[in-house]
Amino acid sequence: MTTNGSGAARRLRFEIFRYNPEDSDSEPHMQSYELDEAPYMSLYIALNQIRETQDPSLQFDFACRSAICGSCGMLVNGRPALGCRTLTSDLPDVVRLHPLPVFKLIGDLSVDTGTWFREMVEKSEAWIHAKEDFDPQAEEVRMDDNLAQAIYEGERCIECGCCVASCGVANVNANFTGPAGLNRIARFMMDPRDSRTDEDWFDVVASDHGVFACLGMMACEDVCPKELPLLEVHAYLRRRMLAARFMDKKD
Ligand code: SF4
Ligand code: SF4
Ligand code: FES
Repeated sequence: MTTNGSGAARRLRFEIFRYNPEDSDSEPHMQSYELDEAPYMSLYIALNQIRETQDPSLQFDFACRSAICGSCGMLVNGRPALGCRTLTSDLPDVVRLHPLPVFKLIGDLSVDTGTWFREMVEKSEAWIHAKEDFDPQAEEVRMDDNLAQAIYEGERCIECGCCVASCGVANVNANFTGPAGLNRIARFMMDPRDSRTDEDWFDVVASDHGVFACLGMMACEDVCPKELPLLEVHAYLRRRMLAARFMDKKD
């Protein structure tokens, strides 16, 4: 807990974006709330206290409280972050909270990331296209440990949307596959069980909305709460796509 210099707990001011798109009388505006800081207070705790003691109409999302479900992404003083993982002790006395951009606003700090991720999965067919029919009697095929680890790394994404919200390209191009989408595609491109060739992937990954639309300014990797190596993933996709068209090898 941070103190105000005299040893007393800080009084925090939260300025929170309020707007209900379902209510024709609602206008976007900022609303202020004050709260005494408590030890180890996260934004999850602070927002729940505000909702319980000051304003039951405040909308925001949380489920797991432990950086697993991906539902609590929001802009914290302008930077995408998970509310459950952000401690007030790391923030100044005034905390401004906005909903993540890019995603459809449900109300106040709550956005619909699910539709964006479902559309991305459908567009890129982000599931295994098996080479053979599944045979439950067959012996398991061993995968190289390093490859399995690389695939697992991509699977750690919790679909919180923070990287997408931070991305300048995703903010102006609704069709951009986005850092989380490119990460998901790379996971399937690496998987030897997937039958798609680089030529099959070309139209998705190398289109105007794919990896070459990325400006490479790293915001996505900077804000990812799971610290996924997103720029490495983009470099891998670029190499694979260039090799598919201009070279006689894949990596
Ligand atoms: S590096 Fe590319 S994908 Fe990541 S935020 Fe920047 S433009 Fe977006
Ligand atoms: S890549 Fe990181 S920031 Fe982006 S959705 Fe996944 S966990 Fe969130
Ligand atoms: S509440 Fe699940 S990630 Fe924050």
